[in-house]
Amino acid sequence: MPVRILAIESSCDETSAAICEDGKISSNIIANQKIHEQYGGVVPELASRAHMQNIVPVVDAALKKSSLTLDKIDAVGYTQSPGLIGSLLVGGQFAKSISFSRNIPLIAVHHMQAHVLANLIEDPAPNFPFLCLTVSGGHTQIVVCESPYSMKIIGETIDDAAGEAFDKSAKLLGLPYPGGPLIDQYAASGNHTRFNFPKPQIEGLNFSFSGLKTSILYFLEHAGKTFSYKPELKVSQIEKEHFIQTNLNDLCASIQHRIITILLEKLKRAVEETGIKSVCLAGGVSANKGLRQAFNELALVEGWQPYIPAFEYCTDNAAMIAITAYHKFLAKDFTPLSQTSSAKANW
Ligand code: KG4
Ligand code: ZN
Repeated sequence: MPVRILAIESSCDETSAAICEDGKISSNIIANQKIHEQYGGVVPELASRAHMQNIVPVVDAALKKSSLTLDKIDAVGYTQSPGLIGSLLVGGQFAKSISFSRNIPLIAVHHMQAHVLANLIEDPAPNFPFLCLTVSGGHTQIVVCESPYSMKIIGETIDDAAGEAFDKSAKLLGLPYPGGPLIDQYAASGNHTRFNFPKPQIEGLNFSFSGLKTSILYFLEHAGKTFSYKPELKVSQIEKEHFIQTNLNDLCASIQHRIITILLEKLKRAVEETGIKSVCLAGGVSANKGLRQAFNELALVEGWQPYIPAFEYCTDNAAMIAITAYHKFLAKDFTPLSQTSSAKANW
């Protein structure tokens, strides 16, 4: 009999349910919450309420897509941390009630570990050990992955995450939330060499993106004359908007290029320091077409074996929770019903 896992992801603003059968994903249903767009960011209370509305139909759709009923499920996985606490609680309590009522194991999953293991969904999957650059809305990490159960962070951001850098840059350009995918879209028709945004000088394998955000702010406020604060060069709001409008594609391409070069330079260094040449991308920002292309080109030049999850497994999804829960199931790593959800990212 195959091992069948139902998994639920509800850490932020996507309600998702997936089914993994013997390590293969047979359904991955994602309900996006459009309600947050009008507020320019995720509103936690509205996210929890939307999860409450979505969770039953989403789980039901996942079971139907896999032609299964609950009595055929061997274990239930869920995102335990990190995330918005109200959102985590909806998915966590739902998973616990299924585990309790069907008397099947409960498996708590760490969201960032799941982003990394999304790479195991694809065929061929990377061999262990591999390196993973995980770039999401809340995290930027370089992880050495020794096995599904053993991971070590060797580099991370000291301020903003890469996804935050995309979203905050987009906000400065007047684009709606979440701006990352829009920057990706406009960048495709832009010239990335047009504006040379400054690069942060951070030692080792850590990242920093807050300086880039500040230089973009000044650059726009000075209509492209300087990256640093010069009050005498500040232009009016109308001039600033005109500058953005007439240069939007090149601005997006140049900002995206700078974020990509910051990420890939550190990744290259991590490969040199660890000697591990199986290299993966993960997290929402790995859906970025410019990053995917630059990563594959670098891998070719450097002789790495590159792996990137399919688009639907990059941004938040329950398939990555299901594959992680499957490996925990094999290791009999089960969770007591008394386990609480946690907003914090304890690794
Ligand atoms: O992994 P994820 O879905 O959620 C978190 O765990 O945070 O990542 C969301 C982030 C957002 O910042 C979003 O703007 C960014 O991923 N993102 C992108 C693209 N698609 C999603 N950033 C750049 N280009 C994209 N195509
Ligand atoms: Zn995520």
